[in-house]
Amino acid sequence: MIILGIETSCDETAAAVISAKNGAVSVLSNIVSSQVKLHSKWGGVVPNLAAREHLKNILPVIEEALKAADVKLRDIDFLAVTAGPGLIPALLIGVNSAKTLSYAGKIPAISIHHIEGHIYANFIRKKQKSKIEFPLLCLVVSGGHTELVLMKSHLKYKIIGETVDDAAGEAFDKVARILGLGYPGGPAIAKRAMEFPISNYKFPNKLKIRKSKFEIFLPRPMINSNNFNFSFSGLKTAVLYETKKHPQLAKNQKYITAVCQEFQQAVIDVLICKTLAAAKKYKPKTICLAGGVSANNELRKQLEVEIKRNLPNTKYQIPDTKYSIDNAAMIATAAYFRYQKEKNKKESPFSWKKIQADANLILS
Ligand code: KG4
Ligand code: ZN
Repeated sequence: MIILGIETSCDETAAAVISAKNGAVSVLSNIVSSQVKLHSKWGGVVPNLAAREHLKNILPVIEEALKAADVKLRDIDFLAVTAGPGLIPALLIGVNSAKTLSYAGKIPAISIHHIEGHIYANFIRKKQKSKIEFPLLCLVVSGGHTELVLMKSHLKYKIIGETVDDAAGEAFDKVARILGLGYPGGPAIAKRAMEFPISNYKFPNKLKIRKSKFEIFLPRPMINSNNFNFSFSGLKTAVLYETKKHPQLAKNQKYITAVCQEFQQAVIDVLICKTLAAAKKYKPKTICLAGGVSANNELRKQLEVEIKRNLPNTKYQIPDTKYSIDNAAMIATAAYFRYQKEKNKKESPFSWKKIQADANLILS
């Protein structure tokens, strides 16, 4: 079946067309119009500006997605849109566009939870034989969420741990602001941290040989707590105190790079430690990564090394980086699996009338 996905929950206007059959998903087009430049002036996303941009871009982006996939609107079998969580002015643009297309084109439609989309980015795979095995443990790390989600089967979610304050991506963005690295902070910090390789780093933080004169040690919040929750707000404050201690280094690029490296490693240590602890308890067959922070190369690599070392029988699955950050192919993919589950229900659940934007939508 051919599915058109639409995503406008934050600062990316996205539309994608996928072709899905027997559990295999091919992306025919994946168009993302980013508003990063617009919002970077303000150091973060301004909801009403985002809505205005979405309104301007949504139809051109959908048109481009159809064109790039070489399909017409009448070829679309199913429509999917992010209904939440997210910024309500932004969500409304995607939701209303999808409802209008569904109504006018008589195309069945469904709403998708943004985090469900991120998780299902892992299911974008052309061949069914490389099937992901359940139970699955997914580390979701985005700008608004940090969660460990346990799935016993498709579309069944149990949140076994989550952040008690800031999300991991939010911490990256706030620390980048403290260091004067602009918005979004994740890619900027990751790039700087790469310039500062550390050798013989042993997880978690046992032996570090730094190639810099700056010896910076940041906390690993809640790393030893006996639950699977996270906290990143104190880590951000620790970066603030660290920089305040050395005002003379505020413009020293090597120092800023060293702070980026230590901050990124602190986040990675906590994420990996909690994921491994949860995996030891719940014994998933597969561990997945999802969300914007899962584009972080060091996190991807280090988690792989530690899973191989600690849980050699557990599979490790990560999305292509273009499907880690916000996109609509992941929304269309989640919709495909929902369609499979709900298509035989007596009363059709796929009506535009049932789609509502909800800023605080719960994953269920
Ligand atoms: O999932 P996403 O695109 O949007 C939300 O659903 O929030 O995630 C955006 C977050 C931002 O906080 C951004 O700084 C972070 O993901 N991010 C990264 C990287 N790329 C994006 N964080 C760390 N390393 C990256 N390479
Ligand atoms: Zn996202």
